[in-house]
Amino acid sequence: MSNMPEWLRTAVFYQIYPQSFRDANADGVGDFDGIIEKLDYIRGLGCDGIWLNPCFESPFGDAGYDVADYYKTAPRYGTNGDLCRLFDEAHARGMHVLLDLVPGHTSVRHEWFRESCRAERNEYTDRYIWTDSVWTEPDGMACIRGISERDGSCAVNFFSHQPALNYGFYRPDPQKPWQQPTDGEGPKKTLSAMIDVMRYWLSLGCDGFRVDMAGSLVKHDEDGRGTVALWKKVRAFLDREFPDAAMISEWGEPDKSLEGGFHMDFLLHFGPSHYNDLFRCGSPYFCGHGDASEFVRRYTSSLEKTEGRGLICIPSGNHDMDRLARTVTGVQAKIAFLFLLTVPGAPFIYYGDEIGMRYVDGLASVEGGYERTGSRSPMQWGRGKNAGFGNSDAEALYIPLDPDENRPNVEDEEADGDSLLSEVKRQIKLRREHPALSNTGRIEFLYAEKNAYPLAYIRELDGERLTVVLNPSDVDASFEFAAATAEVVYTVGGAPRCGDGRMTVPAMSAAVCRVM
Ligand code: GLC
Repeated sequence: MSNMPEWLRTAVFYQIYPQSFRDANADGVGDFDGIIEKLDYIRGLGCDGIWLNPCFESPFGDAGYDVADYYKTAPRYGTNGDLCRLFDEAHARGMHVLLDLVPGHTSVRHEWFRESCRAERNEYTDRYIWTDSVWTEPDGMACIRGISERDGSCAVNFFSHQPALNYGFYRPDPQKPWQQPTDGEGPKKTLSAMIDVMRYWLSLGCDGFRVDMAGSLVKHDEDGRGTVALWKKVRAFLDREFPDAAMISEWGEPDKSLEGGFHMDFLLHFGPSHYNDLFRCGSPYFCGHGDASEFVRRYTSSLEKTEGRGLICIPSGNHDMDRLARTVTGVQAKIAFLFLLTVPGAPFIYYGDEIGMRYVDGLASVEGGYERTGSRSPMQWGRGKNAGFGNSDAEALYIPLDPDENRPNVEDEEADGDSLLSEVKRQIKLRREHPALSNTGRIEFLYAEKNAYPLAYIRELDGERLTVVLNPSDVDASFEFAAATAEVVYTVGGAPRCGDGRMTVPAMSAAVCRVM
């Protein structure tokens, strides 16, 4: 991992959905000033990295993933200057801020798209993927058609108002000249325009990017070769101009993304990782009646394929998934966090997961959230007005608060040493105190059998070797373990026992041990 910025070796990230974190100007929507107010909270939790969801000018048809101007922040969050102040305030606390780069598509309101809709050729004619007739749909892709002066259909990437930027086709069909090769003039200019966007924000002090749908830029590229080649060009640019910028991809196939030059890739709720087996399926492993073996098999194979090339990050959740607390609560949530905070890769904590914020049922969709809306409700800071999110009228809130009067909040959990928040703080501290638990340490699974508990693994780095055992089930669970004693370094819910060639982990407990 020679090309990895030094700070990523120990970074622990906190994901902020800016709409919902803290509203400093009482308009019902979170903002940069609100985030600045809460930097000490995030640092106090132990996190030193922030991933900020998109905060650029946008009609917000997809919560900002429909960018209308890459160079300008959305006024509801503040000005470009306010965002720079956020960078400075974060840096002053030894923290780093990643912006969310959405390179695959824009909003239909983006100037580039308006220009590309014109009948006369201009600089933006090839910026998006257009067919040569409105009656021709782009092979296998959904499209926008009938809204342009230009005769053609434009491919879309996600919602139908998100036209796909043109990075070319891996194997363009010679019968379809509108499919341009990745080294065609149009695709080359698109990439160069996106590099300009990155250069702009990196020059202003941003520390890197989380990249949206990073694996889908080149079209008809089933095995990802074209998209990997594209990201290698971005890597060359970063190596030249911003070697300390950190890059993490929403891709979910680390063997490809890390080859493309990303430092980190997320395991996601979609794709081949079996991430859902742990936290979000019919019977999640951390709810005590599940199976982690397939997850471990895939994860181990991804680690082998990417050995030494970067980090695989397992997030607690994100703005697209159910809240962790929808399925995993109580001691099991503490055990799940001990897993998240003792595996390799940089941990990512989705705002509010550290206090067990709940999924809010029954909400009307907000800004293209649909069922995701319930995971995006305002952060619960305390017992005061709007749970301390801000001083607007309740009706003005961007998304309604969790209506449960027992909803968890930071203030109460800070005062309670037994709360999830206090537990997560202790666990991050533990991670920071032990090199073996850090982002680049090795992992080797000792026990991960089908439908069985506990889950056990060894972490190792710089001569330190620790064993982690997790048993979120309601019965004691044991596995073959040669050592006669284990010094307990940390526990949740009780210490394991060794003897007769086995280690027994009590029901609803987890531990980190040093084995003599
Ligand atoms: C990513 C984002 C998601 C967004 C989509 C389209 O998956 O995480 O929120 O809707 O891309 O940009």
